[in-house]
Amino acid sequence: MLKNDLLLRALLRLPVERTPVWMMRQAGRYLPEYRATRARAGNFLKLCMTPELACEVTLQPLARFPLDAAILFSDILTIPHALGLGLQFETGEGPRIERPVRSRSDVVRLGVPDPNVELRYVMDAVRLIRRELDGQVPLIGFAGSPWTVGTYIVEGGGSRNFSRIKAMMYEDPATLHALLALLTDSTRLYLNAQIEAGAQAVMIFDTWGGVLSPQRYLDFSLHYMRDIIGGLRRKHEGRQIPVILFTKGGGAWLKAMAQSGCDALGVDWTTDLADARRAVDDRVALQGNLDPNCLYASPVRIREEVAAVLASYGRGHGHVFNLGHGIHPEIPPEHAAAMVQAVHELSPAYHR
Ligand code: CP3
Repeated sequence: MLKNDLLLRALLRLPVERTPVWMMRQAGRYLPEYRATRARAGNFLKLCMTPELACEVTLQPLARFPLDAAILFSDILTIPHALGLGLQFETGEGPRIERPVRSRSDVVRLGVPDPNVELRYVMDAVRLIRRELDGQVPLIGFAGSPWTVGTYIVEGGGSRNFSRIKAMMYEDPATLHALLALLTDSTRLYLNAQIEAGAQAVMIFDTWGGVLSPQRYLDFSLHYMRDIIGGLRRKHEGRQIPVILFTKGGGAWLKAMAQSGCDALGVDWTTDLADARRAVDDRVALQGNLDPNCLYASPVRIREEVAAVLASYGRGHGHVFNLGHGIHPEIPPEHAAAMVQAVHELSPAYHR
């Protein structure tokens, strides 16, 4: 039994009494208690791979703020890790893939991971979090998009200009398509396993789709996300499982994204929610989109900006309040609290 199902209702565009709110990267370095647990784990990867600790940090933001969702503490790079590509997180440097995929022969060596074997630790974390949440709020599972995960796999880590994967896209598109197809199969199985383990909504993070030209976005990113969504288990425990699709920088393509079979679109802060709502013609819910940098400002200014985001979406259901991207590590937790409180206080007026 869910005590608070505002998020699930809003994602399905059902009536709510106030706008639900959560934050991308809500469990993370801006919380001192997160840094303490990570220190106990030793490093980030161990934190992800130890279900008890992943559960602990998943619940930390909920103990501080009245959020309407928990998001599984994990990473989009668990799949490259399961593919045996050698994942490392060096402090202050971001992720590194030891054996990047650069050729056709690199791709054909890869096999689709069994999520209940190689990624068993994720499913154990999902089951444990569900037990500990005890129906307080729903749990969101997630994965990266094939394109976004592919950028890390081909580049060998984070990238500024995506030179290697874009060279592959233009010179040898068949090899890139083969890699993306393998990631699509892996991600569909991975998300379905999360749903079976207890994830009550799922989100696909396409952090780097926005670096593509429009046609390349459709062919190399959206196409594969649509494929994943088409293969997802959409009902579990007698409830619908909403799917959220988020392409950072995807504001120009919302209409096409809305036709992917998803229930909701994540919107970053470069698109006005009123324009986004018109673009999708109210066919899907919208999640977003306060500029994460706004949280550097004072609580008074934060409240004004929250009011502006709520007004921009306007009256009616189908809005989930969030940041337009992940919260930054330097944000004072009291500023996040001010944002959540403002949503609680200002949003009921839009649902009467
Ligand atoms: O939102 C949440 O609270 C759930 C946890 C979550 C993490 N990563 C934890 C994390 C989620 C949903 C992600 C997704 C993720 N991971 C994305 C897509 C979302 C986005 O923000 O665009 C991407 C691109 C990654 C890959 C990744 N993981 C990078 C580039 C980095 C290093 C950069 C950084 O912020 O340090 C990570 C590490 C990471 N993933 C951290 C956390 C809390 C920081 C690790 C640490 O504790 O030092």
